[in-house]
Amino acid sequence: MFVKFFLVIALLQAVCAQQRFEVLVEFGTNFSTLAIDTQNEINELYHFNADMVREFNRELLLELGRMVPEMREADSSFQQQIAAADGIDDECREYVEELRELFLLFQNWDIQDCAYYAHVELADDSVNRFLPYAITFLSENTRSISQVVESFSRNNAVAEFDALVEELDVEWEYYQTLAVSFGDFLFDEILAHADVADRVYLDLVECRETAVRLQQSDQEYILSYLDSNCE
Ligand SMILES: *[C@@H]1O[C@H](CO)[C@@H](O)[C@H](O)[C@H]1NC(C)=O
Repeated sequence: MFVKFFLVIALLQAVCAQQRFEVLVEFGTNFSTLAIDTQNEINELYHFNADMVREFNRELLLELGRMVPEMREADSSFQQQIAAADGIDDECREYVEELRELFLLFQNWDIQDCAYYAHVELADDSVNRFLPYAITFLSENTRSISQVVESFSRNNAVAEFDALVEELDVEWEYYQTLAVSFGDFLFDEILAHADVADRVYLDLVECRETAVRLQQSDQEYILSYLDSNCE
């Protein structure tokens, strides 16, 4: 690879020892400057993207964090209610305690489900949005560094030097346009995380409310046993 590279460079120097060679060097400098600038921009976007993904995960965790103590508190006052119930025999109280434990298991699964669905959607979004495009863009951008050598090796620099310069002009336009449009594109990809995060967040809130409601109706159901002394 490198041998080939140096051979072409040597050829470049041999063929264009004259002033003409200078324009190629200028192209080379321009292409690599643009490549470095673009790479820096992608790096910045990359960090911005990671910050967004981290922030959304943090917010989801906070929401889950609110859910656990809420349901735990409801359960402990429910336990007190069972303990304080009047006019029931020990057998019934024990049975109701067992029911409570069984339903607690289901309530835990509800919390886990909420966390699981939020995680899957968010993880999918953080992997499939931005990153694959950034990688494609990076490799296309890196290709621009060797564009002059590549064009040189494809064209007949001796007989058709103007055609070579023309090709480089076209490529130069291409990479400049690419840098701008892909930068915008990547930025939009990052912003689009917010839509997904909003949706996941709303789903999670709904999931939490459902879980809390289910817990209440479980408890009402279990309490109905106490009303009739489990008969
Ligand atoms: C290289 O970039 C400079 C500054 O942007 C520009 O003036 C010049 O025309 C470019 N050279 C070539 C060969 O495109």
